[in-house]
Amino acid sequence: MRTIQAHLILPPDTNHHGTIFGGKVLAYIDEVAAITSMKHAGSNTVTVSIDSVDFLSPARVGDLLELEGRVVYTGKTSITVFVRVTAFQVDTGKSTLTTESFVTMVAVDENGKPRQVPQVKIQTEEDRLLHEQVKLRRKLKNR
Ligand SMILES: CC(C)(COP(=O)(O)OP(=O)(O)OC[C@H]1O[C@@H](n2cnc3c(N)ncnc32)[C@H](O)[C@@H]1OP(=O)(O)O)[C@@H](O)C(=O)NCCC(=O)NCCS
Repeated sequence: MRTIQAHLILPPDTNHHGTIFGGKVLAYIDEVAAITSMKHAGSNTVTVSIDSVDFLSPARVGDLLELEGRVVYTGKTSITVFVRVTAFQVDTGKSTLTTESFVTMVAVDENGKPRQVPQVKIQTEEDRLLHEQVKLRRKLKNR
């Protein structure tokens, strides 16, 4: 399951250097992960963990912020979405990787209790590597 979203970076989204606030990027990451996990689960989901958000390079006012979320791991009731964020400069056509994160969501029923989710089908080598990374992260967290 995959979701693509784009946002135009406007002046209220940026600091006095003209680069986007980290908190704004986090909100977009959470939203794209929520949409992706809801499509996968076929129900509402809630965020339980945002793992290792790496801000790799800034995105500037006027850039298009492009987010891709995809399911790379499922447990019994949890879904981990890998989110990649790139900044696209319209005038040069240059795309720069700005942020990556793993977001774990839990599918919930109408009472807010965890419910079972369909298992992810891994189809690419990159997703297989990301799946292994999530397995390792969960092991380290004892989850
Ligand atoms: C999500 C919630 C319903 C889980 O309820 P719970 O009774 O704690 O359920 P469990 O302990 O069985 O955890 C459910 C799943 O989440 C996983 N999980 C829980 N905390 C986790 C964490 N910090 N990191 C990774 N996975 C986590 C568990 O491993 C389990 O996965 P699995 O079923 O795939 O094996 C509950 O913790 C909750 O409502 N949290 C608040 C969510 C919220 O408000 N989010 C908004 C952000 S502020």
